[in-house]
Amino acid sequence: MFAQTGAVDSHFPASTLPLPYHAHMPQGDSPSHESDPLRDASRGIRLQKALADAGIASRRRCEELIEEGLVTVNGRLVTELPAWVDPVEDEIAVDGRVIARPAKKAGGRRLIYVMLYKPKNTLSAASDPSGRRTVADLVRFPGGVRLFPVGRLDYDTVGLILLTNDGEMANLLTHPRYGVHKLYRATVRGRVADEDLSKLEEGVYLAERKAARQAGRKKIGAKRTAHVGISIVKRDAERTVLELKLEEGRNRQVRRMFASVGHPVRKLIRVGMGPVRLTGLRVGEWRELTRDEVSRLRKTVDQAARKVGKTELRDDEKGEGQSRRKRDPAG
Ligand code: URA
Repeated sequence: MFAQTGAVDSHFPASTLPLPYHAHMPQGDSPSHESDPLRDASRGIRLQKALADAGIASRRRCEELIEEGLVTVNGRLVTELPAWVDPVEDEIAVDGRVIARPAKKAGGRRLIYVMLYKPKNTLSAASDPSGRRTVADLVRFPGGVRLFPVGRLDYDTVGLILLTNDGEMANLLTHPRYGVHKLYRATVRGRVADEDLSKLEEGVYLAERKAARQAGRKKIGAKRTAHVGISIVKRDAERTVLELKLEEGRNRQVRRMFASVGHPVRKLIRVGMGPVRLTGLRVGEWRELTRDEVSRLRKTVDQAARKVGKTELRDDEKGEGQSRRKRDPAG
């Protein structure tokens, strides 16, 4: 549903049923704009922006999450917009999980970008109610700044994962519409034939179990994978080592792609994300990105966002043209 559930950092007990915000107003107080503190624009920022900044999803998707009744502020359900929140003071939760709060800092906060060499058996999340080790447990940033992971790696996948407090950047890096590529090195069982590699490059059909579950559909569809760039590093009868360049990040995508052609993945490591490479770290270590890495990342996401913006503009123009033609068949 939303890409960065890792931004969530604790759980309400299941019995804490959120009530609509006005249900908690003192008796006789109607939830008018004057009396409802969340209708007061001086409170801070719009609720959907606070969610997007915490890396939950795009602003538009966050608006939908609010309207779908999944968001609470200080334990109270908010389904109507506009609503304004103080992202530092207010406790905001999505689907019962409290989102990470930005660090308190006079004059704005410093945006932090960290690279972790994720080990095996580590969850790509800010916390885990069942107590498993998370990537956030491994990054103790000075000053107690809370960082959340940018996208996910499987529990058993190792390699590059970024953590940040910059929700906008996290969204641009992970949302498939921006197509920021990820690089993997995979070791798979057996010798992968050239025709299987061509098949994988062109796209294979993978089940959309999670998407169906989230949309409340019983029927599970299948969707073709987008083009994947593949190069062979080493190949013998026992195993094949490959480098893969992916522009989407579906659930266990690499593992499922190779399983579909009969070559289970033995080892999977992410070695790059956009222009950034996994360098200077041993397994379990982390470092801040260099200034140069941050500016290259920013340039990549800016270019991607501009490209998407232009396409959307062209589509809008097309739509307008068509509707004009519909209105005026002679024209
Ligand atoms: N593909 C996978 O199968 N697993 C990952 O963790 C990332 C990509």
